[in-house]
Amino acid sequence: MRVGIYPGSFDPITFGHLDIIRRSSKLVDELIIGVLNNSEKTPLFTAEERVNLIKSVTKDIKNIKIESFDGLLVDYASLKRANVIFRGLRAVTDFEYELQMAQLNHELDSEVDTVFLTTSVKYAYLSSSSVREIGKYKGDIHTLVPEQVAEAVYKKFDRIEKG
Ligand code: PNS
Repeated sequence: MRVGIYPGSFDPITFGHLDIIRRSSKLVDELIIGVLNNSEKTPLFTAEERVNLIKSVTKDIKNIKIESFDGLLVDYASLKRANVIFRGLRAVTDFEYELQMAQLNHELDSEVDTVFLTTSVKYAYLSSSSVREIGKYKGDIHTLVPEQVAEAVYKKFDRIEKG
């Protein structure tokens, strides 16, 4: 069975991520969405909230599993018996960082290869950080993320504002 991992911060998941999830899920028997639980970063959503948001918008995709992970991606991949990592490339600006990460991961574990999918042009400008920034100022994020995610973003900033 061919198992793949699509890792990321997903803070929050966007239509760009969803596009990569749908397309990469067709290339493997099972796709694991690995949500990074990084104790050094302070994300907007907890790892559990990010996992639940992804679950809520991917119910129609049958061969995926959504989990959080910490530590090295290659260790997580090996634990899950996955030998392919999927990453989306939006523009050349992503390339240098992604190339370095793919090469490092392959150096750490030669069993693991990274496959890059080019993000659909209509999502090329889209990032979780811009969703957070626009959401923070109550701008319209409905074309960037699914409805449940947009509501969760507005609610989160409301809570933060109210302390
Ligand atoms: O969505 P992101 O923030 O671009 O995803 C980055 C991610 C999670 C893929 C990357 O930070 C990662 O794999 N972190 C786990 C730690 C690790 O393995 N680091 C070495 C990779 S060079």
